[in-house]
This record gives sequence, structure tokens and C-alpha cells, in this order.
Amino acid sequence: MAEFLAVANRKGGVGKSTISVMLAHAFAVWGGKRVLLLDLDSQCNASLILQGGEGWLAARKANKTIADYFLDTFDEAAGAPRDYLVHQVGDVAAANGKRPIISLLPGSLLLEDAQGELYVKEARAAKDPEIVSSRMRGRLERMLRRFEGNYDVVILDCAPGLSFAALAALKTANLVLVPFRPDYVSQLAVDRVALLIESKRNGTDLAEIPLDARRYACVANAMRDSSRERNIFDEIALDHPVLSARLPQSSAIADAFDFRDDLRGIDDKYGDATPNVRALYEEVASRLTLRLAA
Ligand SMILES: Nc1ncnc2c1ncn2[C@@H]1O[C@H](COP(=O)(O)OP(=O)(O)O)[C@@H](O)[C@H]1O
Ligand SMILES: [Mg+2]
Repeated sequence: MAEFLAVANRKGGVGKSTISVMLAHAFAVWGGKRVLLLDLDSQCNASLILQGGEGWLAARKANKTIADYFLDTFDEAAGAPRDYLVHQVGDVAAANGKRPIISLLPGSLLLEDAQGELYVKEARAAKDPEIVSSRMRGRLERMLRRFEGNYDVVILDCAPGLSFAALAALKTANLVLVPFRPDYVSQLAVDRVALLIESKRNGTDLAEIPLDARRYACVANAMRDSSRERNIFDEIALDHPVLSARLPQSSAIADAFDFRDDLRGIDDKYGDATPNVRALYEEVASRLTLRLAA
């Protein structure tokens, strides 16, 4: 059985796609795991980082995107989930110099349209309109689960909005990573996504769940380590589980966004931020292992 790791925050620009891809590389190269990344964001940034613009266009032409998979499955015309994946993506090499096992279900600009279309179909078929939303989410959950067959870790890069796909991903995940930048807007965004993940209405209800029993963990990204940032970090850590590993504001991490045709080592890609990337990977891996053992 695969471990499902969702990366989510209602806020954009906090590093969800960057961290999704970083962990895909880390699990594949350092962990020797078979990794699959499902791009659930119609901005398609994870797909662009992992396969470049041309690769993504080719996938679109071949109808290998998440929107194609959703629509075909609803029409009962879909092939195997594997037919929708692009294999051996990314621009880092494993120790043997070859591409590690990272597969991708490419994102699609049409994901929202596809979900709207599916919703209308479900609504037509359903007798009771009340249950359409939950049935729709349940169906998407089962669709996401169909991918686990050949993989150890499935990473779900979520869109900031409340799409059915994002809600299904939050339900499916064994662990939800919530990246945040240390500013006040992010603090509010973390509070909101935490309620969603734990299905609680307010902070008082959420506080009843001990921090170490939560399904999510926050990760501070782009830290410059000012005292103001440290205060915000400490405040978030009072109410939420926060990983001790944090990522600095780093030009190597910013540059890692650009796909390169030539393969290089993971240390080369993440440069002086590599020790931080490694610490993040190890902490996330140990949390997933704990969950497996529990
Ligand atoms: N630690 C970091 N240091 C420098 N730039 C970063 C860092 N994390 C993310 N970025 C940059 O911030 C921008 C937003 O990141 P992204 O991963 O696309 O966020 P999201 O997926 O949450 O919208 C990108 O240009 C990315 O390169
Ligand atoms: Mg993104």
C-alpha cells in the first residue's frame, strides 16, 4: 500500500509545488522509493517543474492529464490509470546516474471545467441533490486511490481553492503537509486549512485534538530568520504541529523551479539548501513510517 502525502494550503505562493517536487526527488533519490506525483492544481506548476513546458505540452497532446483521466473515468471509457501517467520525470539523477522512479499525472488547465462537468453528471443521476457533493468527493477519492498500485509514495500537490479534487486529496492523505511563509496572512491561512483537514468548525473544537494526533504538519518555508518571523513561527507552533525542519529563502530553491534537460545530482539542484531539504525529507519520512507502523 502506498503512503499518500498531500501538500496543501488555501494560500498560493507558499511553496506547495516547490515542496511537492522537492520531496518527490528526495523520496526517489535518497529513499529509493517509487514515487508518483498527482498534479491537482490547474496552474500545473509541479508538472512544469518536473517535465518542462515542452514535456507538459506533449502530455496534453497525448491526453495524459488529470482532466482526461477524470472525464474518461466518469464516462467509463478510461484505460488503466497507468495509461495517463508520464514516467521518469524530473531533472535529477539517482546514485547510478539514471533517472529515479518518479511518475507524474500531469496537471490540466481544464481540471476545474472537468470537475464542473462531472458534478452536473452526478447531479442528473442522483435522486437526492443533497448527496451529490459527498458522492462526487467519494468518487474522486476512489479515483485517486486507484494509482497506488506500483508506488510507495503518492504526493498530491493541491490547488489553493476548495475543489472536489483538493477535498478528496485531504481525505485520502495519510499526512498533509502545510507549507507556510512566516507572515500574518499565512498564519490565518494555516488556521483555515487545519479546520478543513480535521473537519472541525472552529479553533476550540480543533484544540481538542492533541497536536501529535493531527493529520497534518506545517512546514515553515522561505525563512529569513528575522525576529518577527520567529515570533510568527512560535505563534503558529502554539496551535499547530510544526516540523522542526524549515526551508530558508534560497536562490537554489527558487532556481529549482526551472526544469533542465540535463540530469544532475540532487545536491547540485538544491545547492546550499540541500541540508535543509534532507532534514525535511527525513522528518516527513519518519512521520509516514510512524503512521505505517501505527
Ligand atoms: N524557500 C524558497 N526560497 C526561494 N524561493 C522559493 C522558496 N520556496 C518557494 N519559492 C518560490 O516561490 C514561488 C511560489 O512557490 P510555489 O511552490 O509555486 O508555491 P505554491 O505552489 O504554494 O503556489 C516560486 O517562484 C518558487 O520558486
Ligand atoms: Mg502550486
